[in-house]
Amino acid sequence: MIYLDNSATTAPKEEVLNSFVEVNKRFFANPASLHVAGREAETLLEKSREQILNLTQVSVGTVIYTSGGTEANNLAVIGFARKYQNRGNHILTTKIEHPSVLEAVKQLEREGFIVEYLSVNKDGVISIDELKEKLREDTVVVSIMHVNNEIGAIQPIEDCGKVIRKKSRAIFHVDAVQSFGKLPLILSGNGPDAITISGHKIHGLKGSGALITKKLVNPSSINYGGGQEQGLRNGTVSVPNAVALARAVRLATENRKTVIFERWRQRLIEHIEQSSDVLVLAKETAAPHILSIAFAHIKGEVAINYFQKNGILVSTSSACSSKSEEVSHVIEAIQLEDKYKHGVIRVSFAENNTNDEVVRFEKVFTNFVNLLKRGRSHDVE
Ligand SMILES: Cc1ncc(COP(=O)(O)O)c(C=O)c1O
Repeated sequence: MIYLDNSATTAPKEEVLNSFVEVNKRFFANPASLHVAGREAETLLEKSREQILNLTQVSVGTVIYTSGGTEANNLAVIGFARKYQNRGNHILTTKIEHPSVLEAVKQLEREGFIVEYLSVNKDGVISIDELKEKLREDTVVVSIMHVNNEIGAIQPIEDCGKVIRKKSRAIFHVDAVQSFGKLPLILSGNGPDAITISGHKIHGLKGSGALITKKLVNPSSINYGGGQEQGLRNGTVSVPNAVALARAVRLATENRKTVIFERWRQRLIEHIEQSSDVLVLAKETAAPHILSIAFAHIKGEVAINYFQKNGILVSTSSACSSKSEEVSHVIEAIQLEDKYKHGVIRVSFAENNTNDEVVRFEKVFTNFVNLLKRGRSHDVE
């Protein structure tokens, strides 16, 4: 099978798996224990934290280990809003965030915060002017994703940072789950105060992630327990997960393969555009590893099944919403023409893909489009 669903999850790297197993065997002690084995585990934990800070070029900051991107986003949005609520109760985010941000801001609304959503254009990009207009003196948190998980649209994070710093004291959080290791994200200067990363999107392990904060800006904890992670995230810390995450972060930042992703993406776009009734979404604005394709008058599942029968795994616009019949909030936000709304699929690359796989995708795509053209889409259902 050719796996082109790397935005849903990536295959863990051998080195990452080895680190996890090795640390589990040799340093299984609780890092909070006072004995020598506990102290060894703690030293390893702190070394991993230090490595992640260095690799993300945060000189003074904190790495709060979490169970993944969802928990880190929850912690950022809810934790910062609650911590800094003396500054105000206004939250700004976008209409196309991952549910782990959108559902978190809904919770804040129930607690009395006022939430506003930035719209996006047809390419999935927010407007800096709208951000300027909507920012208020009492805006306490701004959460904007770097790369959208469904269509790949990249947001102008640097420009957002400048405007936010100029107009407010808000904490600026960026969900970097889909961009980390693929696109540079500058945290210094006007960069975000905090970013979310997830291990399994960068050839690390499921169940591992982090909220990385800078300049000692920290959220309130959103869970309760023994005071681990400086009281910011309670629960025994998994040292093996932390070490594996640091390893995945190092490999992801050292081996950026974006040039080859861009080449594959361009090649497929040129190929796809020869067909009618098929669109590439966020064509000019998406990250190199994500290609979102919309077919007119069919359901995305029909395409997914056809590709699968032909040995290729892709997904509908996002893994989380792929089982739902509804049109995703991202597709609604970009106001895609009705005939395309149900037919969106996502192709996403990783460094273990090959040229031959991309060529094979092209062939299967052509066969699929020819079948559709002949009005035989029922044959492939
Ligand atoms: C943009 C984005 N944010 C957050 C998440 C959640 O990450 P995790 O699966 O680690 O909880 C995902 C996962 O798909 C994502 O794509």
